[in-house]
Amino acid sequence: MGPYLVSELRFIGRVADGATETKARLILLKDMESSVIAEELVLIKNGGETNPVNEILGVLREGLGKNEFLSHTSYRPDVAYLRHGGEPSGAREVYSFAIEPIGVITDGGIEPNRAIIQPRSPVYLLENRDRPFEHIVKGRDVIWSDAYFEGHPSWSIPFDKGFLPYHVGVYGSTGCGKSWFTRHILVPLYRKAGYKVLILDWSGTDYVPLLKSDEVIKITEIALDEESILSYFQDKTFGFARNDVIKDCFDEFLEGWISRVKEAYSNSENPAEHLYNELKINVEIAVSSIDHRGSKASAQRAFRRIFRKLKPSDLYPVMGVLSVEELFQELEARGLLAVDMSGALTEAKLGFFLSLSKYLYGLMEAGKNLEVALIIDEAPQYAPWDAHGIQAETCEMIKNLAALGRKRMLNLTLVAQGIKGEIGINAAVRRNLNTHFFGRIHPLDAGGEGGASEWLSPYGISPSQLLQLKPGRFYFAGVMNPSPVPLLITYKPVDHGGVQSG
Ligand SMILES: Nc1ncnc2c1ncn2[C@@H]1O[C@H](COP(=O)(O)OP(=O)(O)OP(=O)(O)O)[C@@H](O)[C@H]1O
Ligand SMILES: [Mg+2]
Repeated sequence: MGPYLVSELRFIGRVADGATETKARLILLKDMESSVIAEELVLIKNGGETNPVNEILGVLREGLGKNEFLSHTSYRPDVAYLRHGGEPSGAREVYSFAIEPIGVITDGGIEPNRAIIQPRSPVYLLENRDRPFEHIVKGRDVIWSDAYFEGHPSWSIPFDKGFLPYHVGVYGSTGCGKSWFTRHILVPLYRKAGYKVLILDWSGTDYVPLLKSDEVIKITEIALDEESILSYFQDKTFGFARNDVIKDCFDEFLEGWISRVKEAYSNSENPAEHLYNELKINVEIAVSSIDHRGSKASAQRAFRRIFRKLKPSDLYPVMGVLSVEELFQELEARGLLAVDMSGALTEAKLGFFLSLSKYLYGLMEAGKNLEVALIIDEAPQYAPWDAHGIQAETCEMIKNLAALGRKRMLNLTLVAQGIKGEIGINAAVRRNLNTHFFGRIHPLDAGGEGGASEWLSPYGISPSQLLQLKPGRFYFAGVMNPSPVPLLITYKPVDHGGVQSG
């Protein structure tokens, strides 16, 4: 694509006084203020339409309308006239926008601008046929996504493929469209890049309904570690009715749990009932063999209480037999898999995540390039700001995966309602994410350190704009964006009907 011809461009105004090499303001031609809007792309022919010093691509932000006659802090004849119902003069009205330079268009692609942007330089609005992204991606290895530049459905958004394993954050308040964006844009993009995609659907409501049934595995089908099963039973039995003999007996029974479950599945019509009876008999024997009369009576009471509450159907959530290795093989074969994590306790979900991440870490340590994208929705559940207990472990694990994943082609995509603080992602984890999608944010995220405004304010995007974004609109910032300036992107939700493999 050659240089832009002035005759084919739409002239909208000129550069104002006080421009530098990185900042300029555009003064609009008369009446342009009603058609030219923020977030549009423009071209500056720096120095004049003929023989410009360079041609700079930029994005419009921070619109401003000035009319000196109408100062609201001082009293002027026009203000007096207005107060009595007259129409004041627009003769000295000025409309302007800040231009955030994306870079200079060169044969090799976009370069940072180092020449002073000359006041009076003509500015042109880029329209659909001008295809600015062809300049932005020159010299880069990109994948074109189904997302597009807001207002221009024909301008697909490119992603720099090499930065996939530098990890991604998707943020925005509830209902702003994070899960949909991830499902409709990021998942197909990762597949196009040759990555297999494993989605952890915390509540089973965000992705599972959009997928085919053979692309979903229920967490209850996956074998849990004994620790998690014990805490599941602890929860279901009022802490084993606080009886140590019974607790020990459960503990012992769980030692060969998986083989017992497999045996129950192969030997019985009703495996849960089979297992339940086996468990009950074991506990009963242990209780009846207590010598001391008082302890025996209290253990018997505990026994009755526990088995009145615990039902055979309660065993199903812990009767998974699929190992993490088998899950991974399934992923390799299918290319896309979601784990429906509904129906399990938080500890069991996090326990599963730990086993999964240890397995992936092991593969990477052994030198395997994974080419896997792991999508972690509700990320603060795994890496909260003040992680302790099992969450401290999952948080640490995510950091380790992130670090090693950069070299071993593992992409982590963390989805969260908040960015920082109590509603956000743990700061140490967040530092490992290098591409960000900011949707409509929660007011708690509007200011302060580590929030969206820290990422976006330097580019002229204010927190008040972030508070008002419509669903499905995201600012795309960071290393995967070939444009050094964050851009506002969106997409039309279409049913992919499952993503093609390959
Ligand atoms: N591109 C879009 N265009 C129009 N509407 C959209 C778009 N994306 C999402 N929506 C609407 O927003 C709703 C919420 O989307 P989604 O479930 O992805 O939100 P979320 O940010 O994941 O919320 P939560 O934090 O509660 O999980 C969707 O049901 C849909 O109606
Ligand atoms: Mg969601």
